Amino acid sequence: MTSSNNFSINYASVFFFVLLSLTMLDIYVANEVKAAPTLFIFGDSTFDVGTNNFINSTAKANVPYYGIDFPYSVATGRFSNGLNTADQIAKQFGYQRSPPPFLALEKFQNGFKQNILRGVNFASAGSGILSQTGQKQWQEVVFFGKQVQQFAQVRGNITQILGAAKADSFISKAVFLISTGSNDIFDFANNNTEFHVGVEEYLSILQLTYFSHLKNLYELGARKFGILSVAPIGCCPAVTSGNGGNCVKPLNDFAIVFHRAIQALLQKLSSGFEDFEFSLANTFEMTSDLLKSPSTFGLKDTQSACCGLGKFNGEGPCLKSLNANLCKNRDDFLFWDWFHPTEKASELAAVTLFTGGKEFVSPKNFGQLAC
Ligand SMILES: *[C@@H]1O[C@H](CO)[C@@H](O)[C@H](O)[C@H]1NC(C)=O
Ligand SMILES: *[C@@H]1O[C@H](CO)[C@@H](O)[C@H](O)[C@H]1NC(C)=O
Ligand SMILES: *[C@@H]1O[C@H](CO)[C@@H](O)[C@H](O)[C@H]1NC(C)=O
Repeated sequence: MTSSNNFSINYASVFFFVLLSLTMLDIYVANEVKAAPTLFIFGDSTFDVGTNNFINSTAKANVPYYGIDFPYSVATGRFSNGLNTADQIAKQFGYQRSPPPFLALEKFQNGFKQNILRGVNFASAGSGILSQTGQKQWQEVVFFGKQVQQFAQVRGNITQILGAAKADSFISKAVFLISTGSNDIFDFANNNTEFHVGVEEYLSILQLTYFSHLKNLYELGARKFGILSVAPIGCCPAVTSGNGGNCVKPLNDFAIVFHRAIQALLQKLSSGFEDFEFSLANTFEMTSDLLKSPSTFGLKDTQSACCGLGKFNGEGPCLKSLNANLCKNRDDFLFWDWFHPTEKASELAAVTLFTGGKEFVSPKNFGQLAC
């Protein structure tokens, strides 16, 4: 009896492992005839597709109800009910979803060489522009600078495979997607006293550090940058639930000045560095638009999270093990959990990145970046 139990447990875990490998590694092949650009993806939980499953981090989304609408309802580490924003952008480019996490590719060496040529996702939940961001709260995260170092290794591997000239050309045609900054702002707001600096000074530290990360990527051969700034984080359920349902203005104000700072540094990079090409998404404006007229976008609730605990489901994480509330119609909601958008809201964002006007994405949209 024990042996048959053991067998069934092993069988189940093998099955799960195969499923996870399939969903993480294989099913992201481009389905368009026109070749989609290779994607290298950097940032935080808005883009993480499983990086944190491989590190000692408490910022993980590898248990239910995460992934409830993902194929086979697998909780892959995405902070979403299904696809996240990185996936939805990759889909617009012609893929089925984001390329897999670097740490997964590295761990499952089989096919590493073919796989890195199909793009890599380095994003890590809880991380930020600064190396210290998220470290205290989430124990371990892969910050942006470290993600760039990991890309440097991948570039070395690509050079080994293709040779220097072809590798340079390959990387120059790739699109580098980046979504970071929210966690730096949250850390600042949560622990102002520890920083001993004002908003202005902190902002300029973020700007300088972001600049140096992008310059490093440029020096590694990156030429096309698709960048998302920070959404109105003062309006997410984790924040509004502690503020009588209202948005917290200082957080939103910080997001607005952050966007301007990123815009200025991108202009500087594009005028100072040959062939530096960018598309900057004004995530703040995009999300504000959804908040102002939800019904235009087919949304019914932009205040509560679909899944979570307490007021507006914003007082705790979306964990089945904690008996979290779970809504039925996920597509009606802007927020999936206390911080993150639903698969549906991510899709709306991705469509805007590809088709939206200059008020949302400038000086060109993500589609034009691919050409
Ligand atoms: C992970 O973090 C916990 C809590 O801080 C610590 O006790 C443990 O030793 C860490 N594990 C590794 C492998 O670093
Ligand atoms: C990729 O590069 C790293 C660092 O140079 C090296 O240790 C690793 O073996 C390489 N992997 C492959 C598959 O070539
Ligand atoms: C800020 O940092 C200090 C020192 O590490 C810590 O004791 C305190 O709990 C933190 N406060 C918040 C609000 O995170």
